[in-house]
Amino acid sequence: MDEPILLTGGAGFIGSHLLDRLVERGVEVVVLDNFSSASYENISQHLGSPRVKLVRGDIRDKETVERSAMGCKSVIHLAANPEVRMGDPEEHMEHNIRGTLNVLEAGRKIDASIVAFASSSTVYGEATILPTPEDYSPMKPISTYGASKLACEALLSAYTHTYSIPAVALRYANVVGPRARRGVVYDFVRKLLANPHTLEILGDGTQKKSYIWVEDAVEATLAAAENAGKTFEAYNVGSVDAITVREVADTVCQALGLAGVEYSFLGGPGGRGWPGDVKFMHLDIRKLMSLNWRPKYASREAVANAAKALQNELVKG
Ligand SMILES: NC(=O)c1ccc[n+]([C@@H]2O[C@H](COP(=O)([O-])OP(=O)(O)OC[C@H]3O[C@@H](n4cnc5c(N)ncnc54)[C@H](O)[C@@H]3O)[C@@H](O)[C@H]2O)c1
Repeated sequence: MDEPILLTGGAGFIGSHLLDRLVERGVEVVVLDNFSSASYENISQHLGSPRVKLVRGDIRDKETVERSAMGCKSVIHLAANPEVRMGDPEEHMEHNIRGTLNVLEAGRKIDASIVAFASSSTVYGEATILPTPEDYSPMKPISTYGASKLACEALLSAYTHTYSIPAVALRYANVVGPRARRGVVYDFVRKLLANPHTLEILGDGTQKKSYIWVEDAVEATLAAAENAGKTFEAYNVGSVDAITVREVADTVCQALGLAGVEYSFLGGPGGRGWPGDVKFMHLDIRKLMSLNWRPKYASREAVANAAKALQNELVKG
C-alpha cells in the first residue's frame, strides 16, 4: 500500500486514524468525504500537506468518485451512512450500496490493486455461533444497515470475479477511540459529563458485544489489504472478548472517576437497545490473526481508553 490511495470517508472517525497512519508511512492519499459526519479538525494536521489531497464530494456521484480516483492505485472505502440505529433504508441504499457500486466502478477504471471495504459485524444478524467465524451462515442481518453492508460485500465479490479486482471486506466490531462521535462509549461519556449522578442505558444492559480500539482496527485494515490475493476475502475485526453494556457503563464510570452512578434501563424489544440491535456479538478473529495481526487491547481496556480520550475532547470543546 505504498502507492497513492483513494480513501473515502477519510475525514470521519476511523478514516482520519487511517489517514494518520498512511501519512506516517509516506503514502499519498486522496481523501473523498462529503463531511456529513466528518470534521475538519480530524484531519487538520494534514491539510496543506503535499501528500494529502482533500476532495469534498459525495460517493453517490459517480463522476466525482472516478475523478477522485484518477492517479490512485488502490482504494480504502469507508464512506457510508453508519447509523445502525433506526437508519433510513433509502439512505442506506443510496450512500452505502449505490456509493459502493460507484467506488467499485472507479476501482475498475484505475485497475485497482485492491479495494478494501468497511463492512460490519451486523452482516451476521443474530449468529447462533459465538465467536462467529467468517464462513458462518445463513447470514440474516436484522437492520437495514447490516443488510446494506452485506449487499456491498456481494458486489465486491462479484467485481472480483467479473473484473479481477482484488477486494477485502473488514467486518468491524464496535470500534472505539478518540474522535468517535457515535456509539455507546461516546453516548455514555456525553451523558455523564452533563449529569454525573445518573446514566440512562438503552436496552436491559445484558447486550454483550466486542469493542476494538481504533488503532487496532486501522492495523487490521492495512494487514488485510496488504495480504490480499486475487480473490474476495472477508475478515472479522474485533478484540479477543466481549463485554456487556452494563460492564461498558461500569468501565466508563470508572475511567471518568465516578462512583455510585445510578443506572436506569430503557428496555427495548427483547432487552435490545432498539429494533435491529444485535444483542450478542463476538467475532472469531483467528483468520486475521493468521496474518500476524494482534489487537493490542481487549474490550474493557479499549472502552476505558476511549472514554478518557473522549472526555478530554468533549471537555476541551
Ligand atoms: N465505528 C464503528 O464501530 C463501525 C463498526 C462497523 C463498521 N463501521 C463502518 O466503518 C466506516 C467508517 O465509520 P466511522 O465510525 O468512522 O463513521 P464516520 O461517520 O465517522 O465516518 C463516515 C465518513 O463517511 C463520510 N460520508 C458519509 N456519507 C458519504 C457520502 N455519501 N459521500 C462521501 N462521504 C460520505 C462522512 O462524512 C464520514 O466522514 C463506515 O462504513 C461504517 O459503516 C464502523
